Amino acid sequence: MRVGRVACPGSFDPVTNGHLDIIRRAALLHDEVIVVVGANLAKHGLFTVEERVSMLEEVTSDLPNVSVGTFRGLLVDFCRSNGVSAIVKGLRAVSDFEYEMEMAQMNYRLAQIETLFMTANPLYSFLRSSLVREIATYGGDITSLVPGPVEKRLRAKLAAPGQD
Ligand code: PNS
Repeated sequence: MRVGRVACPGSFDPVTNGHLDIIRRAALLHDEVIVVVGANLAKHGLFTVEERVSMLEEVTSDLPNVSVGTFRGLLVDFCRSNGVSAIVKGLRAVSDFEYEMEMAQMNYRLAQIETLFMTANPLYSFLRSSLVREIATYGGDITSLVPGPVEKRLRAKLAAPGQD
């Protein structure tokens, strides 16, 4: 089986440089990459699903074989109905492994959808969206952690919560 179209799923609240590194590397390896924002729990996050999608579109606009979408419900159902043959995920550290392995095995059991793991760039192995939100909330420097447009959107969102 060829792995032509893959999905990079996540919450992306917001997209970080670590996510972008995995998306870029996946785009070099596969014909088509769909970055998909999981909408199931999005209402508990900082950014709306639409805002997350719009940031992802902005920061991947130079990658012609990358598109951005959303899904609700099971990821494997999205994969089946969109001709996605494999899920690509980044692994930052051993601490990611157990959870990711469980999901990968369950997704295979549910729908025979494969999961391909890419090791995170060590520059970003400590990076996660929730830490970025926390650092930004308390005025820390996030310039090397997220793409420029995302930093701007975070600052604006935190300056006027509920207004953005
Ligand atoms: O950014 P995250 O938190 O690692 O993203 C997790 C996500 C959205 C990829 C995962 O929670 C997911 O796939 N949710 C959809 C529901 C689903 O398919 N659950 C069964 C997984 S075995």
